[in-house]
Amino acid sequence: MGVEKIRARWPSRFVFILAAVGSAVGLGNLWRFPYLTYKYGGGAFLIPYLIALFVIGFPLLILEFALGQKIQRAAVDAFASVKKQFAGVAWWALFSGFLVITYYAVVMAWALKYLASSLSVAWSGNSEGFFFNNVLGLSESAAVLGGIQWPLFFALILVWLMIYFSVFKGVKSVGKVVLITMPVPIILLFVLLFRALTLEGAGTGLYYFLIPNFAALLDPQVWVAAFSQIFFTLTLAFGVMVAYASFNDRHQDVSGNALWTAVINSLVSIVSGFVVFATLGFMSMSKGVGVPDVVASGPSLAFVVFPEALSLMPWAPFFSVLFFLTLLMLGIDSAFSIVEAIAAALKDKFGKIRRERLTFYICSIGFLLGIIYTTGAGLYFLDIVDHFVTNIAILTVGILQCIMIGWVYGTARLRRYINRVSKFQIGKWWDVCIKYVTPLILLTLLIFQLYTEFTTPYEGYPTWALLVGWGAVLIPLVIAFLIPQAEVLIDDED
Ligand code: PFF
Repeated sequence: MGVEKIRARWPSRFVFILAAVGSAVGLGNLWRFPYLTYKYGGGAFLIPYLIALFVIGFPLLILEFALGQKIQRAAVDAFASVKKQFAGVAWWALFSGFLVITYYAVVMAWALKYLASSLSVAWSGNSEGFFFNNVLGLSESAAVLGGIQWPLFFALILVWLMIYFSVFKGVKSVGKVVLITMPVPIILLFVLLFRALTLEGAGTGLYYFLIPNFAALLDPQVWVAAFSQIFFTLTLAFGVMVAYASFNDRHQDVSGNALWTAVINSLVSIVSGFVVFATLGFMSMSKGVGVPDVVASGPSLAFVVFPEALSLMPWAPFFSVLFFLTLLMLGIDSAFSIVEAIAAALKDKFGKIRRERLTFYICSIGFLLGIIYTTGAGLYFLDIVDHFVTNIAILTVGILQCIMIGWVYGTARLRRYINRVSKFQIGKWWDVCIKYVTPLILLTLLIFQLYTEFTTPYEGYPTWALLVGWGAVLIPLVIAFLIPQAEVLIDDED
């Protein structure tokens, strides 16, 4: 195959794993995972989370790595090579990931703002006011845009510049950047862990994190949240892992790579949970209230409660710098992974476009779309778009991917390839997962989710605001399937 000779390559397997782990590990681990755990009843959330990891996360990660690596193309062409109609699914996945990153970059911009305020611990004594007024300038409802918050706007430009300079040369630059942005924040996270565990009251917080409240397991919402978190955290069904694996040579150990990525990612989430909950325990002790009472749950956990706890610690400026730097560094390789996945898909199609220019356009559009989140109503829209894209679009893409491989391409055919190149052999269980178990679970959750959407408006937002959420699901879907697609013929015999 001619393409194989000229296709860009990761410098080594180690760098590929760093990049894949880099995409997986991000704000989803240190920001989203702890607040979801907090919101859905502490330790109770861990049970569906771990189940989702084994029945969906791991099998789908194997699928995405195997497909990209075997076909040697990024998502769009890889899907189209199975059947050209599937190209639309890949575009939809990529657009959804892109929408995620438009608000994700804004959360990184918040972190940048906090980093700049860390030396003076500017939020000390008023962490809620600092976040909602100084950083977000939060308006009273989604209907009141409240103007752009300029410091956030400029922070967002900086974030997108960082993203651009990490990916502008594709795999070549990504391969260098991840050598720093992956190991460094993990080391910093362990410093924070050590600090958190030695705080007084840490045990109380950990008790809340680890001891399940079984009643919460009866709430299907907890299951939907856990399953969609697995997609979010492993960057599954966004077309990213397919693209990354397409830059491996065809003989790499697929199941080993998937195992490393899934295990490291979940370990980082659990360690983040320890850091956040131990610190919450310390704060509840200092304030003399229970852990569930230290604050309302939600996206603000890492930006209100946690900073407040930081301000109560000895060496507060130092640990604040550490925390926000960790958040930023964890976020950056996830953010650029989707830019790379989109650029790679376009490059497969229109080989002649210059990489730098392509990346520049993608980053500029991402920045422009993100401006809405820098307004006073930004947090509301962020919450809505996150909810709809991750709980509806991504679950659906997940189902379609299973159908594509399970029923059209053939699991046995892909598994034969996986087992030929991997040390860790995959059994028939994988076929059963991809053909039946995973899509059926996802379908059940999706039906439940759609039912809930129509019976109880999400978080009581007005209908017009929820329509924005639906727009974030449906507009990319329509565009995705309107993009013309030619037959892609690839000789991928084993
Ligand atoms: N996996 C990333 C995280 O957990 O932070 C989030 C993410 C990255 C989602 C890239 C989507 C995406 F395209």
